[in-house]
Amino acid sequence: MKFYITTPIFYVNDAPHIGHSYTVIICDIIARWKRLNNYDVLFSTGTDEHGLKIAMAAKTNGVIPEKFCDTISMRFKKVWKLLNISHTDFIRTTEYKHFMTVQKVINILFKNGFIYKRKYSGLYCTACERFYVKKDLDENELCYLHKIKPIPQSEQNYFFKLSNFKTAILERIINFNHKEHIEIHPKERRNEIIGKLKNGIDDISFSRLSIDWGIPVPFDKTQTVYVWVDALINYITVIGYCENSNKFKKYWPVDVHLMAKDILWFHSVIWPAILMAIGLPLPKKIYSHGFFTLNGRKMSKSLGNIISPEELINKYGVDATRYLIVSLVPFDSDGDISWEMLTLKYNNDLANNLGNLLSRIIMMAKKYFVTGICYRRVINDLKLVNDIIKIFKENFVQNMDNIQLHKAVENLQKAITFLNKQIEIDTPWKLIKTSKTKVEIYIYSYLQAMNIIAIHLLPFMPLTATKIWHTIGTTGDINEIAKEYFFNNLSIKTELSILNTELENPNSIFPRIY
Ligand code: MSP
Repeated sequence: MKFYITTPIFYVNDAPHIGHSYTVIICDIIARWKRLNNYDVLFSTGTDEHGLKIAMAAKTNGVIPEKFCDTISMRFKKVWKLLNISHTDFIRTTEYKHFMTVQKVINILFKNGFIYKRKYSGLYCTACERFYVKKDLDENELCYLHKIKPIPQSEQNYFFKLSNFKTAILERIINFNHKEHIEIHPKERRNEIIGKLKNGIDDISFSRLSIDWGIPVPFDKTQTVYVWVDALINYITVIGYCENSNKFKKYWPVDVHLMAKDILWFHSVIWPAILMAIGLPLPKKIYSHGFFTLNGRKMSKSLGNIISPEELINKYGVDATRYLIVSLVPFDSDGDISWEMLTLKYNNDLANNLGNLLSRIIMMAKKYFVTGICYRRVINDLKLVNDIIKIFKENFVQNMDNIQLHKAVENLQKAITFLNKQIEIDTPWKLIKTSKTKVEIYIYSYLQAMNIIAIHLLPFMPLTATKIWHTIGTTGDINEIAKEYFFNNLSIKTELSILNTELENPNSIFPRIY
């Protein structure tokens, strides 16, 4: 089965920060999760490189836009690599195939009668790359998002008949039984979209006369395509719509578009309208998450309060960064973070709970299995393993499938805590005086339980999960065994065999940070 998931494509006026990384890490965890469930995953991300904002940023930096875009786009790629993102495709809107795709879409829209020319006057916010009317602005007439005063603009543009699609889109969002139903999450934001649609929508300008850093309108070279239209089309460029490739036939429609709430409208109204107008099926699910703030303030270059992903990686390591970013803020809501919160969570969840658990199990195994572990020698008691599986069975799968990652992390922590407590109850260090065999059985089951935890950690912390697996000396490839495990609906058919091996010293996989 196929699964196509996308991140938004990010503007290259700015280096990647943890807000961008948040979205990409969530998608990566879901992509890895789907692969473990045997899906054939296409995971696309990329950079949005046209428009006034980018042209201005290039000018400020004293370079031509092409060069500027190359540099920043490369930075995004580099950071995604550092974060161990497993995307299959990275699209840049300055690529030739995208140019061709955008022109094809605009031509079809024109041919199908959805484009017309008219004069437009409005207030343009360059940071948002969109027009506003006064009632959309705050009391000082600034845009809510960037606190910037939009500039009055008036020009002849090509308009898209968005208003024609109001009823069709509403129906597809509201009616769960519609064969082209678009699922929007969370429901509060879905309701906002429905409310806004019910209030009525206007046609929207799809081109710019005064901006030349963009893709020309194919039938009028004096105009460029509005950067948001250009950007949305990336989702079909990347899979080869223009050449009607097999990849396109296989992966469209997209299964999940994921982004923050700021751009939900574009994805749940404007994009479906374009798709309907060119006769393509609609996205199946759209997920919008909240905004991160840092010490109570929106993170943005203009406000000068940005944490870079590199800073986080330097302090906590790659896997911990991935874990912390998705576990600190509930998916649906906004959330505030600070260095103190990050370090506290790191120490509690990773250094104390997970890291300690692994080292104490390995220490005991080394101490009490004097000649190394040999699974044939140990009677295998699966009770503990089944208890751990039961914890995950409660709702780990639903949480992953519904992209409630902070809750899936709670399932993980619950299992880790349970295992830690079980060790306290068993007190192998006391029992060793009376029954060595029993201690061996216990420890063997701790190692097996730890492996079950590692399997669930895999999408979040792939390096750590694999390290745990190897430290324990389990046979087989963790990814393959995890696939079998999730595919067989969370049961371990074959016991995990732990080799007669010299256990590695797990020297604190997550050293405490002060
Ligand atoms: N280029 C457009 C998107 C076009 S998609 C067809 C754009 N780019 S952006 O660089 O501004 O990225 C916006 C996205 O970055 C948000 O939707 C979100 O996914 C992510 N985030 C940026 N800052 C963020 C936070 N502070 N918090 C959470 N997510 C953030 O909009």
